[in-house]
Amino acid sequence: MAETDGTAPAMIGVIGGSGLYALEGLEEARWQAVETPWGAPSDEILTGRLGGVPVAFLPRHGRGHRLPPSDIPYRANIDALKRLGVTDILSVSACGSFREEMAPGDFVLADQFIDRTVARAKSFFGPGLVAHVSLAEPVCGRLRAALGAAAAPLELRVHPGGTYLAMEGPQFSTLAESRMYRESWGCDVIGMTNMPEAKLAREAELCYATVAMVTDYDSWHPDHGEVDIQAILATMHANVAKARALLAAVIPAMGAARAPCCHGCDRALEFALITAPEA
Ligand code: ADE
Repeated sequence: MAETDGTAPAMIGVIGGSGLYALEGLEEARWQAVETPWGAPSDEILTGRLGGVPVAFLPRHGRGHRLPPSDIPYRANIDALKRLGVTDILSVSACGSFREEMAPGDFVLADQFIDRTVARAKSFFGPGLVAHVSLAEPVCGRLRAALGAAAAPLELRVHPGGTYLAMEGPQFSTLAESRMYRESWGCDVIGMTNMPEAKLAREAELCYATVAMVTDYDSWHPDHGEVDIQAILATMHANVAKARALLAAVIPAMGAARAPCCHGCDRALEFALITAPEA
């Protein structure tokens, strides 16, 4: 319901990646099952309040990490969050880095994506109702700025932008692929989950921003060899603790009311090319 000052109630959705399977310290916390026309989401969704702000947390791979990236029900996840009233999504995930300066342990607030996934449903639209939303700016600048501002006083190394390559997986990249993404394609980080999540969030008119947490240098780095699973796990656990601190700072700072998105994410379909079925 709209407030008299033009704002509307906000609910922050958090999609947690590897190692982040719950949010601690929520008031009125409860896990709830949500059904959608696209099936069940990855798991039940933990709702509650953090600093008075409504929150809905969804573990992307399910609790216990049951789902590989290709089997995550991306459409059900976004739809389930929307049904609960989520207005803004903060996505948290592990990634590899193509840049020396984006070191393991750093966070990258990616602002662009290249989608190399090939085996996932990527749209809520299809035969019968065709729609093309704009994706030139796939990340909500307002949310990315909020993340950057909340991170500033914390002891975190945060990069304010970067291009995230989304790969299908589950295998990591070959050396030739890693070099191509880094040298020819100009990518900064690589992960397996942010697409089609960002595309679907835009179609659902939800603001979306991502915290890509670097665990490794993928396979291009001459001094680091190929992806070392033990090293990734150790860095991942440290990253999850930092992500919790960032979420605990950013969510209360975002507040329980929000104005219409200054970038229009919440009105994406108003600007979309939509072809309704002929009567
Ligand atoms: N997640 C963490 N590290 C990764 C990498 N190097 N490639 C793809 N996904 C990742």
